[in-house]
Amino acid sequence: MFRKIIMILLISILLLSVSSMAQLKGKLEIFSWWTAGGEAEGLQALIDIFHKKYPNVEIINATVAGGAGANAKAVLKTRMLGGDPPDTFQVHAGHELIDTWVKTGFMEPITFLYKQEGWAKVMPKGILDIVSYKGDYWSVPVNIHRANVLWYNKKIFEENNLTPPKTFEDFFKVADALKSKGITPFALGTKDGWEAAHVFETVLIGKLGAEGYKGLWDGKTKWSDPRVTDALETFKKMLTYVNSDHSARTWDEACALIVDGSAAMTIMGDWAVGYFYAKGFNDFGWVLAPGNAGIFDALSDSFGLPKGAKNRDNVIAFLKVLGSKEGQEAFNLKKGSIPARTDVDKSKFPPYQRSCMEDWLKHKIVPSVMHGAAASEGWVTEFKDVISLFVVRPDVKTTQKALVNVAIKNGVKQ
Ligand code: BGC
Repeated sequence: MFRKIIMILLISILLLSVSSMAQLKGKLEIFSWWTAGGEAEGLQALIDIFHKKYPNVEIINATVAGGAGANAKAVLKTRMLGGDPPDTFQVHAGHELIDTWVKTGFMEPITFLYKQEGWAKVMPKGILDIVSYKGDYWSVPVNIHRANVLWYNKKIFEENNLTPPKTFEDFFKVADALKSKGITPFALGTKDGWEAAHVFETVLIGKLGAEGYKGLWDGKTKWSDPRVTDALETFKKMLTYVNSDHSARTWDEACALIVDGSAAMTIMGDWAVGYFYAKGFNDFGWVLAPGNAGIFDALSDSFGLPKGAKNRDNVIAFLKVLGSKEGQEAFNLKKGSIPARTDVDKSKFPPYQRSCMEDWLKHKIVPSVMHGAAASEGWVTEFKDVISLFVVRPDVKTTQKALVNVAIKNGVKQ
């Protein structure tokens, strides 16, 4: 009798939860800039999981192409300010989330979801901190990306008997050797305006170290520092080894040069590895960007709940998928990043990501500026524009002065 009652109870709980899942209907608009190889696949993996659970919800996959949100962020701003928020949107954890959207009152806190799902117990403090403000959580981090990686074509290195560079000195030696063989040493795309600043961020880390670099964003390191001059001089020299058509290429089109063997190295975040996976390219190797040993330049993609979201229940259901073990594994396997959750099955991941998981635990973590973690969006935009100009007109003195001014303008004394 007792067993019968338990059985009936269990079956009714099951039926209830299945029917409440199926009950969700209407739409869910997911806004992001994930259109490139690896990115689109990662997003699709999340959508597939959601769709299986909630087959009656129509998903609107609203993407705006352009790496690092080059175009998406402006579209998002127009929509948010115009009172037409997407149901949920991609946003970098840290300053981009907190300064742009939380402090300004555009988001709903989702602390209740963290409590329900137990996320605070399975995500690292460093990540929880950058999705928190005034005691609440404001978005769900889906990953941890690493920005400071140098990727290379293994075959080119083997054929030319070269060792992947770890220092700037080695970098230039290798680059000269490649150049003399008629191989483009360094692949770069500057089409979307942020890619050069991304590389320069890693040069700053390489020249200033973790503390020196972090200090640039809170005033402890002055932008007039001679190490910044050195970083600019070094970057100027690096730019002499890039493909001549860089202004016509996006980040993924620069990575394509590594895949087809027309360039030997590039520096890009580990969405590049997602791109390589998507292209079925396995002949890549990686080391940290020159001078970046022991430092993890980090960023995290996250999604939250904007006030006035038209399909609030559906967003909540989607956020649960994003924070779930299943969601984080499926997404990150395609995306190249590592899950924000620490309780995933590490053995499922390829060697690059496994090594990244280990580094995350032992390296010094610094926040990426180009990807919203280190400084407010206004500063990031100006920093990016100054470096874009430097690519065209590499004048070290003028550029350093401009960087000093940008810091002052953004409230950091120099
Ligand atoms: C995002 C990544 C994305 C990359 C290139 C970064 O800002 O965090 O998820 O793959 O931009 O689009």
